[in-house]
Amino acid sequence: MLKASTARPSGLGFAARLGLSPRFHAICARIPGLKHIARAEGRALFDIVSGFVQSQALLALVELRVLHRLTEGPLPAGDLGAFARVAPQPMAVLLQAGAALGLMRQRRGLWRLTTRGAAFLAVPGLEAMVRHHPVLYRDLADPVAFFRGETQPELAGFWPYVFGAGGVADPALAARYSELMADSQGLVAADTLALVDLSGSQRIMDVGGGTGAFLAAVGAACRGPELVLFDLPAVVPAAKARFAASGIDPRVTILPGSFRSGPLPEGADTISLVRVLYDHADSTVADLLAKAFQALPPGGRLVISEPMSGGDHPDRATDVYFSVYTLAMQTGRTRSANEITALLGAAGFADIKNYGGFRPFVTSVMTARRPI
Ligand SMILES: C[S@@+](CC[C@H](N)C(=O)[O-])C[C@H]1O[C@@H](n2cnc3c(N)ncnc32)[C@H](O)[C@@H]1O
Repeated sequence: MLKASTARPSGLGFAARLGLSPRFHAICARIPGLKHIARAEGRALFDIVSGFVQSQALLALVELRVLHRLTEGPLPAGDLGAFARVAPQPMAVLLQAGAALGLMRQRRGLWRLTTRGAAFLAVPGLEAMVRHHPVLYRDLADPVAFFRGETQPELAGFWPYVFGAGGVADPALAARYSELMADSQGLVAADTLALVDLSGSQRIMDVGGGTGAFLAAVGAACRGPELVLFDLPAVVPAAKARFAASGIDPRVTILPGSFRSGPLPEGADTISLVRVLYDHADSTVADLLAKAFQALPPGGRLVISEPMSGGDHPDRATDVYFSVYTLAMQTGRTRSANEITALLGAAGFADIKNYGGFRPFVTSVMTARRPI
C-alpha cells in the first residue's frame, strides 16, 4: 500500500504531491483561508464516496411513493411510515436522508415537499430513469469485474433495439424502451431547437426518431419544413399516434427501415440524429454518417444531438453517468465533440459546428454540412 507520508513519487505534479501529504492537510486545517478550501474539498470527496447511498435513498423514496404522497400535502412521519409500511425508526432515517438531499423538509412535525422534490416528480422521464437504475446498479455491483469486462451486464439486454431491426421485433419491448426515451425527449428537443434554427429547412428527416417526439417539437416550432421519420418498423406505430394527436400528421411521412441495411432515403435537406450515435460502435457510426452524407444534397445539413463526453474538460454527468451507462450497454459509447468531429470529417462533412449544450446531462448539439 502507498504510504503517503514517506513516498516521493517523482512523476507527480506539485498539486497532487501536496494532496498526498498528511502534513499539508494538517497545515491547511489550521490556516483560515485554506481551512475553508480544505473542508469544501473534503465534502466534495465524501459526496463522491457516498453517492451510491444517496441514489439508493432516492430510489427508496420513489418506490415507497413517499414523494408522491407528499404532493397531497404535509404529513407527519407516522402517516408516511404507515403508508410506506416502514417502521418508525428506519422511516425517520429515510425522511432525514430525503431532507439532506433537499427533496423534503420537516416543519412543526409535518413533512412537506421542497421545490427540488416537486421538480424531481415533474421533470419528464426522471422518475422512470431512477426506477430503471436497479439494472445498472446490479451491473456495477462488482465494478472491478465490470471494467475488466469479466461480467455480462444486464443492461446489454435491456435495450435490444440497438442491435438492429431483429432486436426490436417485440412491440412490447419497443414500447418499454420508447416510453423511457420519449419521456425525456421533450427536454432534448427543447434544448436542441434553442441552439439550432431549423425553420429554413425544406424537409427534415429524423433518423432513429423513435416515437416522433423530436419531429413533433420541430413541427410545433417551425411551420415550414416537411417532416420525415425514419426508424425500425416495430417503433414507428407509436409515432403515428403522436403525430395524429399533435395535429402535424399532414406534414409527416413515416419511413420504416433500418440504417444498417441499404442507403438512407434521399430528399431531405436536413437530417437529424438525436441520441442515436452513442448507441453504436464506431464502425456503425462511420457507416451511418457516410449514408447520411450520401442522402443529403450538397449544402445539406446534419444535426447531431446527444449527451457528449466533456473530453479534455471531463463532465461529471456525461463522463461518469452516460459513459459508464453506454459501456454497460456494450454496443456504443459516449463520445466527445472532438471524437464526433473526427467521424464527421472522415465521412466528408465540413463546416462542423459544436454548439455545446445548456444542460450537458440533457444533450449537446453539433451540426455539419455536406460541402457544395
Ligand atoms: C436512443 S433511441 C433515440 C430515439 C429518439 N431519437 C430520442 O431521442 O428519443 C435510438 C433510436 O434509434 C433507433 N434505431 C436503432 N437501430 C436502428 C436502425 N438500424 N435503423 C433505424 N433506427 C434505428 C431505435 O429504434 C431508437 O428509436
